[in-house]
Amino acid sequence: MMSIGIFDSGLGGLVMTRAFRATLPQYDFLYLGDTLHVPYGPRSAQAIYDFTLQAVDYLFAQDCPLVVIACNTASANALRRLQQDYLTNHYPDRRILGVIVPTIEAALATGHKNLGLIGTAFTVNSGTYADELQKIDPHIALHAKATPLLVPLAENNGIGYAEPVLTDYLQPLLDKNIDGLILGCTHYPLFKPLLKQILPSSVDVISQDDVVPPKLADYLQRHPEIESRLEKQGRLRTLLTDVTPTYQAIADTLLGSATTLEKVTL
Ligand code: DGL
Repeated sequence: MMSIGIFDSGLGGLVMTRAFRATLPQYDFLYLGDTLHVPYGPRSAQAIYDFTLQAVDYLFAQDCPLVVIACNTASANALRRLQQDYLTNHYPDRRILGVIVPTIEAALATGHKNLGLIGTAFTVNSGTYADELQKIDPHIALHAKATPLLVPLAENNGIGYAEPVLTDYLQPLLDKNIDGLILGCTHYPLFKPLLKQILPSSVDVISQDDVVPPKLADYLQRHPEIESRLEKQGRLRTLLTDVTPTYQAIADTLLGSATTLEKVTL
């Protein structure tokens, strides 16, 4: 099945998959969530790279001509290295895309000059957002804050308890007078309604489920050599490296419908 492969460390990427399907309903998608190893955020660079490589390799073995790494932590750590070493040597006619550069481009397109970023400890400490921003426009400021409690809250039905946590996390960014806040993690679109309540109206929320799907649509238009290889029957298969009843419930909630989860071994 020549699908668009979507990879995430767990189930958070289903939020993005839902958004991709809303923008590109005709395409087939193959989702792979590494639920056996989630969360990636607190892990070492080598572990994140090894897990990401295994997952991308699996999706290529399933014939995906294009893989989107929806996970910010994996994008921050592994994308450039995978594109430069692995892809060139093993699959020169396939593509791996990440979410960081498209997110920065979308933030800059709306004219922001003083950005905030929240993400996992790895994403923030890696400095990848700052490095990529520097390459695109060195005059834009970026103030980053690791927000490690948000993923566990999202995964344990805890968004109702998130307000004091978020308020505390955001204060140092608000002290810097940010004009836009990048949500640099697959799970964070789930906090959008709460963020809009907490943040002053002068701070624009840049959420990947809004800004990345149009970038993927644009990419496909500019790359007919990839686009023409994709099947267009609007199908989705959801593969996980571990399946539990809790994962089933979360997947159904995130995708908004009953989902068949298939367990795979990488
Ligand atoms: N999917 C990860 C991200 O976007 C968050 C969850 C994790 O720590 O694995 O950064």
